[in-house]
Formats: sequence, C-alpha cells, structure tokens
Amino acid sequence: MKKSYLITGIIVVLVLVLVLLLLPDRQENGAAVIRVGCDAAFAPFEYVDTKTGEVVGFDPDLMRAIGEELGIEVEVYNVAWDGIIPGLVSGNYDVIASGMTITEERKQTVNFSDPYINAGQVIAVRSDETEIHTPADLVGRKVAVQISTTGHLEAEKIPGIAVIKKFNTSPDAFLEMANGGVDAVVIDLAVAAEQIKANPGMYKLAGPPFTTEEYGLALRKSDTELLEKINRALAAIKENGKYDEIYNRYFSE
Ligand code: ARG
Repeated sequence: MKKSYLITGIIVVLVLVLVLLLLPDRQENGAAVIRVGCDAAFAPFEYVDTKTGEVVGFDPDLMRAIGEELGIEVEVYNVAWDGIIPGLVSGNYDVIASGMTITEERKQTVNFSDPYINAGQVIAVRSDETEIHTPADLVGRKVAVQISTTGHLEAEKIPGIAVIKKFNTSPDAFLEMANGGVDAVVIDLAVAAEQIKANPGMYKLAGPPFTTEEYGLALRKSDTELLEKINRALAAIKENGKYDEIYNRYFSE
C-alpha cells in the first residue's frame, strides 16, 4: 500500500516537472513571443498588403523592430477595433499596436508605452463640399466615425451634429460619405490623408486637426516587465535610426 503511494507520488512529480519543462517561458524571462493585436484597416498605421496578405504599416513595422531589438519574436494578429481592449485583457494578444490614442479613460484598464507618434482629429469631407471648415460647421450635419475611437468621442462632444453614424472600420465611414450618407468623417489626420490620396478627387480635409493626441502601445496592467522592455527598445530604435527609417517608409511626403 505505502509503496504504491510512493510510486504514484513519484510519477506525479515527474509529470509535473516534464510539463514545466515543456511550457514556453512566457512570464519569467519575459515573453517567448510578443503577440500583437491591431485592426488592420487603418492605413498607413496598419493594413493588409493585398499582394502578400501580410499585415503591414507603421505599427506592425514598429513592433517588429522592437521585437528585433529585444530578441523576441513578434506575431501580428488582425482583430476588430471594437473589443480590442477586452481582447488584450483576456489574453488573446499581449500588445495593442493599432494607432491607439493614449487617453485617461483607457489608462484605467491598460498601461501605455511611452508615446510613439503625434496625432490629431480632422474633419474629412467630399471634395465638392464648401461650407464645412471647423467643428462648429457640423451643426445640423451627418457625420460618420469608426466606433469607439477618439474620433467618435470627439464627434460626440461637438454640439448640434444631426446624426453620428458609427462604423466598425474607418474605410466604411469613408464609403458612407462617398455614397452621400453623411457629410463628414471625423478621424485621425494621417488616416484621412491616406484615404484622400488613395481615392483621387473624392475627399479633402475640411481644415487642420482640432485635437492633439499621442499614440501608445497598450499592455495589460500586469505586464509591467514587458512594458519596461518595450519602452527601452522604443528608445533604442529612436536612437539608432530604425524608428526614422520606419517613419520615412510611411510618412515620406
Ligand atoms: N486614434 C484613434 C483612437 O485611439 C483611432 C484608432 C483606430 N485604430 C484602428 N486601427 N482602427 O481611438
């Protein structure tokens, strides 16, 4: 009887040791892989290269450079924007690199890296629009936004907008404007500029940015070690020219 307990005990311990040895070491020596979530319909920050099917853009390139700096592999996942924070919190990926503006509200739920780029909201309109120049001109107008973005939030702050139509992706908001369903889109400057460039003659900026924002990489509150590493790597690639190289790749004009 005693002997069989001992043997069972030994087997249990051996199995446990084996399992521990086989587990990839994620927490202690840091992540084996950094899994990155982004909504890849936000060019030039993240989009799918139609030829290769790969997720490319400023953010994935930045994360790959950070991974290289840290000697950690980076995997990029294309996920829906709405729910991107809950997906991080529940562990579907480790970092959000998705043109995410650092906001006080989001800081309640996630930690942000040091800011990695400046941004701001603009109003985009159809090329033939002549009356909309500032947020105040949106009184009585229909506006499209990507849901749960700072553009959505800022549009809600503008008094007198007739309707705010919310879309799951930014390109859908622009399509609605092209189809005449709305008069304007409130969105991040560089993304508006990219849509304008990609659709010649269709859209233009109504005016300059009316907010100032900074993007940050978002991590789970518990991942403080990884956050520190990412900040260190970010500083290093800003220092060694890698950041500028990526910047110039997407913002050369
Ligand atoms: N900067 C805005 C925000 O943080 C929009 C970001 C949307 N990003 C995206 N990949 N769709 O809310």
